[in-house]
Amino acid sequence: MCGIVGYVGNSPCVDRLVEGLRKLEYRGYDSAGVAIIDGGTISIRKSEGKIDRLAKLIASEPVEGNCGIGHTRWATHGRPSDINAHPHRSGSVVVVHNGIVENHRTLKEKMQARGRKFTSETDTEVIAHLLDECVSEGLSLEMAVRRTVAQLQGSYAFLAVSETEPGTIAGARLNCPMAVGIGEGETYFASDLPPMLAYTREVLFLEDGEIVVAAASGIRLTDFSGAPHVRAPQHIDWSPVMAEKGGFRHFMLKEIHEQPRAILDTLAGRMLPESGEVFFETLPLSPEKLCALKKVIIIACGTSWHSALVGKFMIEGLVRIPVEVDFGSEYRYRDPVVEPGTLCIAISQSGETADTLAGMREAKSRGAVTVSICNVVSSTIAREADGVVYTHAGPEIGVASTKAFTTQLVALYLLALNFAQVRRSLTPVQISDHLMELSELAPRIEGVLKHEEAIARIAKKYKDASDFLFLGRGISWPIALEGALKLKEISYIHAEGYAAGEMKHGPIALIDERMPVVVLCSQGESYEKTLSNLEEARTRGGRIIAVGTIGDTELLEKTEDAILLPLVGRMSRAILEVVPLQLLAYHIAVLKGTDVDQPRNLAKSVTVE
Ligand code: M6R
Repeated sequence: MCGIVGYVGNSPCVDRLVEGLRKLEYRGYDSAGVAIIDGGTISIRKSEGKIDRLAKLIASEPVEGNCGIGHTRWATHGRPSDINAHPHRSGSVVVVHNGIVENHRTLKEKMQARGRKFTSETDTEVIAHLLDECVSEGLSLEMAVRRTVAQLQGSYAFLAVSETEPGTIAGARLNCPMAVGIGEGETYFASDLPPMLAYTREVLFLEDGEIVVAAASGIRLTDFSGAPHVRAPQHIDWSPVMAEKGGFRHFMLKEIHEQPRAILDTLAGRMLPESGEVFFETLPLSPEKLCALKKVIIIACGTSWHSALVGKFMIEGLVRIPVEVDFGSEYRYRDPVVEPGTLCIAISQSGETADTLAGMREAKSRGAVTVSICNVVSSTIAREADGVVYTHAGPEIGVASTKAFTTQLVALYLLALNFAQVRRSLTPVQISDHLMELSELAPRIEGVLKHEEAIARIAKKYKDASDFLFLGRGISWPIALEGALKLKEISYIHAEGYAAGEMKHGPIALIDERMPVVVLCSQGESYEKTLSNLEEARTRGGRIIAVGTIGDTELLEKTEDAILLPLVGRMSRAILEVVPLQLLAYHIAVLKGTDVDQPRNLAKSVTVE
């Protein structure tokens, strides 16, 4: 998730672009840049770091012009650096891009064979080269964009300028947002509304499969084949703060709703469901090493530790290698036994959590091969691990982790399938079935999000409870822990997550008619047993909120409130089940009036012991 901006009109645009980028910094902040076209020459200013650094660079090396594009980056392909910062130039064309070009490697190899020289590690640079090839043949920028999008796979919103057409910006969109603000004699572009609201409230949201070409005289919209699209702009009356949160009241809610997109980005380019193949760019394990692997230890903290517990089910279930899970804060001091053939997986959204980092270092120093699953590119844990699998969730701003969690689960699922493929613990047909499930996950989460109103009503009913119990079995047990953690951290209500079968060994004593008990009771293995645990809680007066399976009338008869989800496989179930729990915690917290995005006593990244 990066932020892009653009301006073409009659006013000097550098300050507008830089201010626009500041307003998009929440979308990414590891490097930034602008390209300004003036009198047929494009000047680029870009640097690693936040927008302030770019502003200083521009102050020391000024540029001017009435047409330009800009970018603030959240690295996905290629570490944060001056060279990888956007804009990217090829010949007379300069591009900024948000998204992932999935087939960039194939395109790059083909173009290198044609003699093109690449300077960055990004996927974006292929767009600049493809456009430049067309422009060099004498095509207009619009035609160049049309021909280029026909070759791109993946997700993108990009803007391009060319020295051959000063005063024109062209762009295209597929699966990434782009808004076009229509002013008087000027056009604004941005990934989101905040950069343009001070100048215009008349906005066109580009749709998937559309190309836009703008000059001071106006804009032209077509589909990818060149057929004109005519649409009136919408009038936007959001406040700037509302706009930054995409119209959502809190970043946490926005991030909950971003999960389908984040999951698609995490899957992008890593699987071929039809042939049952999974790929990773940088895994430090040769097939021989992977086959010789004897044990996996997963180290993490907080929500990432819950991912680790789910990962244990995934890796043991699909790969048949024993998996140990530990908190970073415990592992680092417990004098662990690390035998040859041990892989340590460190999971961290921020990639900076001190305990996880120390745990991973400890395992590495004792001879384990290390792989990290991180969201922040080039974070310390990502850099220090022998290999890294990035989740492509985009920046997570709400302190309570949501989209980072579900994308970690997706990354672990893919990793387990990759191991299963190499070690042949599953057949290609079985892997293909799992990948099909994964490819259906995003629309299924969209479906779960439609239950939000019903969940908000449940939240209203139980908001004054002082304690909650969350129960689940098997792979749903860590999800129960995560549901309890979400509720604790943002609503300040005491909540416990428990393995449902363990309830009778103690916590059952807590249950009375004041205790809401959230039971993860989807159909599948251990359904009957969980249903019995639900019954045990109900007969002691517990107020049951069940998360179950669509069509389960037996469950409905036994519960006061239920959220029913589609029937899916065991691994996907964990990923679906957490979404209603995130929404429940969110709506209870809102009703209690807490600071949802920055709950008391917590920090987004815990870099101390
Ligand atoms: O950045 P990390 O994933 O390493 O962070 C670990 C925990 O601090 C984090 O998951 C924390 O528990 C969240 N606030 C949970 O919502």
